[in-house]
Amino acid sequence: MIIIKSKQELELMREAGKVTALILRELEQFMKPGVATIEIDRFVEKTVKEHGMIAAEKGYCGYPASICVSVNDEVVHGIPSEDRILQDGDIVSVDLVVEHKGYMADAARTYGVGNISEKAKRLIETAERAFFEGMKYAKEGNRLSDISHAIQSVVEGEGFGVIRDFVGHGIGRDMHEDPQIPNHGKAGKGPRLQRGMTLAVEPMICEGDWEVDVLLDDWTAVTVDGGLSAHYENTVVITDGEPELLTL
Ligand code: MF3
Ligand code: CO
Repeated sequence: MIIIKSKQELELMREAGKVTALILRELEQFMKPGVATIEIDRFVEKTVKEHGMIAAEKGYCGYPASICVSVNDEVVHGIPSEDRILQDGDIVSVDLVVEHKGYMADAARTYGVGNISEKAKRLIETAERAFFEGMKYAKEGNRLSDISHAIQSVVEGEGFGVIRDFVGHGIGRDMHEDPQIPNHGKAGKGPRLQRGMTLAVEPMICEGDWEVDVLLDDWTAVTVDGGLSAHYENTVVITDGEPELLTL
């Protein structure tokens, strides 16, 4: 069942979204060689608290940190670590969920460290462009998979792959609500979009093959072929007009 949010609920998600966006922007300063990924996690945890909110990934299904930090071939759910030191040329995906008075906002960005390859740049830009192409279909009356199909078309049009094992999702009181939102598929399927739906749309894409493995830490998902991966996510409200992006 897809939960339609009230005005009051949307207002709380909007506030959570603003803080999410602000923090993700501030993370640019950490994307330098020599930074340990745990430092990013500490900064986020502290800053979310200063806003009187909660970093909701911590403790979710036993997840041990306040953000997910996935470097290079890591797709999602990389665990911040003292030992993971950023290097020139790395690409780093950070995924953050902020909870405010019981309501969540979820967003992710991929950053470059120092000088990254042209292909890495194009991968990062493609994830973002695919999201915004998806937004052209995030309108009341359309079908959910219209978004999925638009995302897939952009990604494959660049010769990149769409990760299948992880999907976008509804969001609100719970981090993951119905519906699931794949980043691939035929247009014209799934539920009709209605105003008041709140969706985390999140293309996760890769340079090569979309097959992923989960490491022995039980969280970190990596591409099987070792190719780079990028992630771009925002929490979106369906309205009677243009979608409202809460985490931009
Ligand atoms: N924020 C992720 C998403 O986009 C979920 C992370 S799982 C967690 O849906 F355990 F790290 F929280
Ligand atoms: Co998400």
